[in-house]
Amino acid sequence: MPFVKTYWIFFCIAIHVTSSQTVEDKVTYNGSQVWQVELQGAEDMAYIQKLHDNKDISIWTLTPTRADFLVPDRLKLKVHRRLVAKHLNHTVLILDVQRRIDLNTQQVVPALWTENALRDGHRLSWKKFPTLDIIEEYYNFLAEDYSSLCRVQTIGYTAENRTIKMINITDGNPKNKIILITGGSHAREWVSVTSALYILNNIVTKFDTQSSYIKNKNWLIIPVLNPDGYVYTHTVDRLWRKNRRNFKRCKGVDINRNFDSDWGIVGIKESDECKITYSGPYAFSERETKALRHLVGSSVRKPVAMLDLHSYGNLILFPWSARTQPTEDYNKHVEVAELMRSAIFKSSKENYTYGATYHKIYPATGTFLDWAYSKGVVHSYVIEIKDKGKLGFLIPPKEIEDTGKELFAAARSLAKYVNHHKRQIESKDARKTWF
Ligand SMILES: *[C@@H]1O[C@H](CO)[C@@H](O)[C@H](O)[C@H]1NC(C)=O
Ligand SMILES: *[C@@H]1O[C@H](CO)[C@@H](O)[C@H](O)[C@H]1NC(C)=O
Ligand SMILES: *[C@@H]1O[C@H](CO)[C@@H](O)[C@H](O)[C@H]1NC(C)=O
Ligand SMILES: *[C@@H]1O[C@H](CO)[C@@H](O)[C@H](O)[C@H]1NC(C)=O
Ligand SMILES: *[C@@H]1O[C@H](CO)[C@@H](O)[C@H](O)[C@H]1NC(C)=O
Ligand SMILES: [Zn+2]
Repeated sequence: MPFVKTYWIFFCIAIHVTSSQTVEDKVTYNGSQVWQVELQGAEDMAYIQKLHDNKDISIWTLTPTRADFLVPDRLKLKVHRRLVAKHLNHTVLILDVQRRIDLNTQQVVPALWTENALRDGHRLSWKKFPTLDIIEEYYNFLAEDYSSLCRVQTIGYTAENRTIKMINITDGNPKNKIILITGGSHAREWVSVTSALYILNNIVTKFDTQSSYIKNKNWLIIPVLNPDGYVYTHTVDRLWRKNRRNFKRCKGVDINRNFDSDWGIVGIKESDECKITYSGPYAFSERETKALRHLVGSSVRKPVAMLDLHSYGNLILFPWSARTQPTEDYNKHVEVAELMRSAIFKSSKENYTYGATYHKIYPATGTFLDWAYSKGVVHSYVIEIKDKGKLGFLIPPKEIEDTGKELFAAARSLAKYVNHHKRQIESKDARKTWF
C-alpha cells in the first residue's frame, strides 16, 4: 500500500525535525587521537586502567596484550610521558578522531540507490550507518511485506520512552528452536546494529532459499537494544556507550553490566555513575535489561542459543565473564566458537580468536552473556566484531556489508550446530537462581 509507506516516511521526517530543536550541541573530538600500546600482562593492564581515572582518556579496548585508548589533544604530552616512564611505546591508530567521524558520515550516497530504496518502501542500505528512523521505517516495511514470516514486537520502553523492538521470525512451527540475536547494547558499536540487521534481512527476504537449519528456527532479533543511546550517538556524541538514564551527576548505565549475575563483586563492579561502565544502582535497574529479563527469564521455551553482538576486537567470547573457572559446557563452547571462527574466516579471511571473557579480555560483572547462560541458554556467545583498518568503533561504512556477511556466516554455523543439540536446557534452571 503505497499510501501507508509515504505517510510513514513523512511521519519519520516530522519527528526528526521537532526533536532536533531540543538537541544538545554536538560533542567534537577535534584533535583527539586513538593510541595503541602493546602490553605484557596484568601489570601493564592495571597501569593503562589507571590512566582512565581521568575520564577524558577513554579506553576503547583492553586485553592482556593490547590497549587502544582515546587521548584528547590537551593531554597528549602528559600521557606520552606516563607511557615512557613505564617503557611502553605507543602507535597512533587514529590521527584525528573528529576527522574520521566526519569522513565516515560524509560518504556520498548515489542518487540511484535512494530512488531504489524508496521504491522498496524503506531507506535501509548497507552503504551508510542508518539512523533509528530509517531502521524503524525498515521494520514497518517488514511488518507490511513479510507479515506471514515475521512480527515486529515491542519488548519494552526506554527512559526516553522509545520502543525497544524485536523482530520475531518463524515459519509457524511451535517446535522450532529459538535463537536470540542482540545488537547495539553499547550505543557507539554501530557495526553490531548493522550486522544484526544484515542477518535479519537475509533470513526474512531470502527465506525460501535458506538452508533448512535456518528455516527451522524461531529467530528473535533485537538490532538496537539501546535506542536512546543509539540516537544520542547520531545526534550528539558519536562515542557514547551507555543508555541515557538520568542520574544526579551524570547520565547512563552500561546495559551490559546491569544483569543479575555476579553483579555486585567489589573491585570489578563500577559504582561511579560518571564512568562509561557504570553498573547501575542495582541489578536490573534498567528498562533495557528488564526487557531481556522478561523475554528470556519468563518464557516457557528458552532460546537454545544467544549471540550478543558488540564491537570491537575480532573475538568470540563465552562465559564466564566474572569467574575464573571454566563452565561445565566449556568443551561445547570451544567447539562452537571454532565453527564460528572458521565460518568467518571462510567468509572474509578475517582472523577471530575465542575464549572465556574473564581470561580472554578482562573480568566483567553483570553481563548479559553470563546471565543468559545462567538462565539456561547453554549456547551463549558474545562476538566482538572486527576492527579491520584499525579504526575500532569508527569502522567505515564501506565495511558494513562484508561484516554483515561474516556475521551471518557465524550465525548460520551456530544454527546448524544447535540442530543436533540434545541437552535438556530447562534442567539448568533448577540449579541456578539469580533472582
Ligand atoms: C580543530 O583544531 C584545529 C587545530 O588543532 C583548529 O585549527 C581548528 O579550527 C579546529 N576546528 C574546530 C571545528 O574546532
Ligand atoms: C620502544 O621503542 C624503542 C625505540 O624505538 C625501542 O628501543 C624499545 O625496545 C621499544 N620498547 C618496547 C617495549 O617495545
Ligand atoms: C510512551 O510511548 C507510548 C507509545 O509509543 C505512549 O503510549 C505513551 O503515552 C508514552 N509515555 C510517555 C510518558 O510519554
Ligand atoms: C514469536 O512469534 C510466534 C508466532 O507468532 C509466537 O508464537 C511466539 O510467542 C513469539 N515469540 C515471542 C518471544 O514473543
Ligand atoms: C590468526 O590469529 C592467531 C592467533 O593470534 C595466529 O596464531 C594466526 O597466525 C593468525 N592467522 C592469520 C592467517 O593471520
Ligand atoms: Zn560492547
